[in-house]
Amino acid sequence: MTPRFTAGNLHRHSSPEELGKITRALRATGRKIAFVPTMGALHDGHRELLSRARRIPNTVLVASIFVNPLQFAPGEDFERYPRPIEDDLAVCEAERVELVFTPEREALYPPGAQVTVHPGPLGDELEGASRPGHFAGVLTVVAKLFNIVRPDYALFGEKDYQQLVLIKQMVRDLDMEPHVIGIPTVRERDGLARSSRNVFLDADQRVAAVALSAALTAGAHAGLDGADAVLAAARKVLDGTPALALDYLALRGPDLGPAPDRGEARLLVAAKLGATRLIDNVPVLLGAPALGERG
Ligand code: PAJ
Repeated sequence: MTPRFTAGNLHRHSSPEELGKITRALRATGRKIAFVPTMGALHDGHRELLSRARRIPNTVLVASIFVNPLQFAPGEDFERYPRPIEDDLAVCEAERVELVFTPEREALYPPGAQVTVHPGPLGDELEGASRPGHFAGVLTVVAKLFNIVRPDYALFGEKDYQQLVLIKQMVRDLDMEPHVIGIPTVRERDGLARSSRNVFLDADQRVAAVALSAALTAGAHAGLDGADAVLAAARKVLDGTPALALDYLALRGPDLGPAPDRGEARLLVAAKLGATRLIDNVPVLLGAPALGERG
């Protein structure tokens, strides 16, 4: 029997079977499923994803909240990751989420689970170089969530740009159904990208954190002068902020392959402030437009 579902109300389910039954029944009535996977501690970045998903016509809005142990390496912040479930449910209600999936760890990873999704070479670069196994953990849980929820649309933030690129790659390479939609990064007024990890910053670190987005903006503004100028402009801002321990500053193509000489590129940064690791990225247009492109 399919569990009860009343359109327009928030329903919380922890059982993958129940959640799957409901979304399948809804699809059978012709409604599409729009899905926003999260790890909770919901902020304005997540809210933007939810609100964009809600505006796709004829869809049921489904969110998941699950702090996925598989994407945290030993020694990372899995234990201390914030889990304000009551606040998160209130956000879901305010964003008119109709189904929120909050599985227990054992329900997604029962004893004996072995098979994971391998991300390919990009999984070992940038974030993957500092966080071995991270993207296998992300892709595995996203594949599982897709199989349970069966979304027509799945929304992810450009904030986690490499994650977005790898999820699109997985969907293509493994013939998955969802249409993956990337949403631009939501920022604080001073430019800092919203993140569930920002709560870990003390007052001084919060001030220093602005250097990440400031460096990216400075880099993007130097785009006309080419790749070296972009990196130099960004590095200058980062070098002026000793509290930041830089992990990487990288200029790549939009698919995270090598940056082109001219045209669209992506500038990405990762740094630690004390124990807190922050990432950010922006689009960059490289090189002067050729004659005739100026419109
Ligand atoms: P989480 O960090 O909770 O992020 C959930 C979604 O919100 C991701 O798609 C992320 O890119 C997006 N997001 C976070 N901050 C944002 C911001 N400032 N602006 C726009 N979007 C933002 O990313 C994950 O969880 C996990 O890896 C997950 C995909 C759920 C798999 O466990």
